Amino acid sequence: MLYSSILLVASALATVASQQLVLSGPPTGNRAYSLEWSERTFLLNVPQSYVHGESHPLVFSFHGAGGYSEKQQRITELSDPSLRINGKPFLTIYAQGVNNSDWNMTHIWKGAPYENKTIQYVFDALEIVSKTYTVDRSRVYACGKSNGGGFTALLACRPDTSAIFAAFAPVSPALYQGTYAFHNCTPSRPVPIFHIHGVEDVITPFHGRTPEGGSFGPEPDVRLWRRQWTDMNGCKGRYEGEWAEPKLEEIHKGVWEETWDCPGAEVKAMTVEGLGHAWPSTLGLDLAGRPNQTANFNLTNPYLVSFFSRHSLP
Ligand SMILES: *[C@@H]1O[C@H](CO)[C@@H](O)[C@H](O)[C@H]1NC(C)=O
Ligand SMILES: *[C@@H]1O[C@H](CO)[C@@H](O)[C@H](O)[C@H]1NC(C)=O
Ligand SMILES: *[C@@H]1O[C@H](CO)[C@@H](O)[C@H](O)[C@H]1NC(C)=O
Ligand SMILES: *[C@@H]1O[C@H](CO)[C@@H](O)[C@H](O)[C@H]1NC(C)=O
Ligand SMILES: *[C@@H]1O[C@H](CO)[C@@H](O)[C@H](O)[C@H]1NC(C)=O
Repeated sequence: MLYSSILLVASALATVASQQLVLSGPPTGNRAYSLEWSERTFLLNVPQSYVHGESHPLVFSFHGAGGYSEKQQRITELSDPSLRINGKPFLTIYAQGVNNSDWNMTHIWKGAPYENKTIQYVFDALEIVSKTYTVDRSRVYACGKSNGGGFTALLACRPDTSAIFAAFAPVSPALYQGTYAFHNCTPSRPVPIFHIHGVEDVITPFHGRTPEGGSFGPEPDVRLWRRQWTDMNGCKGRYEGEWAEPKLEEIHKGVWEETWDCPGAEVKAMTVEGLGHAWPSTLGLDLAGRPNQTANFNLTNPYLVSFFSRHSLP
């Protein structure tokens, strides 16, 4: 593919900060990457338990508008060294969005009407990390929050990007029309998706937004958006042509897990009462959800890592 030849140059240019001396294998810990030809950066976390030569899963985590890599690492706690995906320590790329001077916004993602840059960056980051570290390319995952959640949904909908990720987890996604939330969602295969949303979210409202409701256009009611995914993944209704109803379970007080029986690929959702625009954690680390940023469970451990563990590319 075209981008692979660009990457030969790119990897030579990739600069790496916080180098550590190790006797064998590439360094572990937090490593700052900058792709000089595109002025793009990301933070890679490699756990101490990484073993060079063994294959390790890789998670991409996309921050919300105006966020940044380090903040996303902090609020998601994905670099907790005890975490495993399918029994393996995993690497995490905390990606960082682009500045948009027209809208006077820093660090945003494609899929928003205020962004018009390429998603090539995602392919580039994957290739560069895979050159240095032994990544299990059948276990690369995408998750993100808000604008980064909408970007995750876009990655799930595009034929090219849906083909490189095994599963997708949008958290309180900003489902702008540019994320294909309304039309044109065409994954390369039925893709596993896990959607989490606080009912008290006033930034990307659970019940959606009319075109007049904000400067960035309409957003769907997330329950309708979930239905589109159950339709795409062939989830079973009671009879032909009926929307598939979820199996509902209150897994914590006010936390409703919705699961469907889907021959195509897993669709799972969590509806979180009392939670605002936040990545769910009991420590209330995501202040964007204020004053309702504290959950009575941690999303990342166990729910997100166990969802990812269930999926790999064929
Ligand atoms: C984006 O904007 C932020 C905040 O103004 C600034 O710190 C950063 O250097 C900018 N990045 C680029 C690539 O221009
Ligand atoms: C979109 O891209 C064009 C061409 O690269 C650039 O001139 C313009 O400023 C960009 N607009 C936004 C909103 O970023
Ligand atoms: C851009 O945003 C910054 C920070 O919110 C603000 O101080 C500045 O006045 C804004 N600039 C323009 C041109 O709106
Ligand atoms: C949101 O937080 C406020 C302030 O802590 C609290 O009074 C309110 O009950 C919370 N809303 C819900 C639905 O939990
Ligand atoms: C959630 O994570 C925090 C920090 O990692 C931890 O202190 C807390 O015990 C966890 N809560 C639950 C319910 O697992």
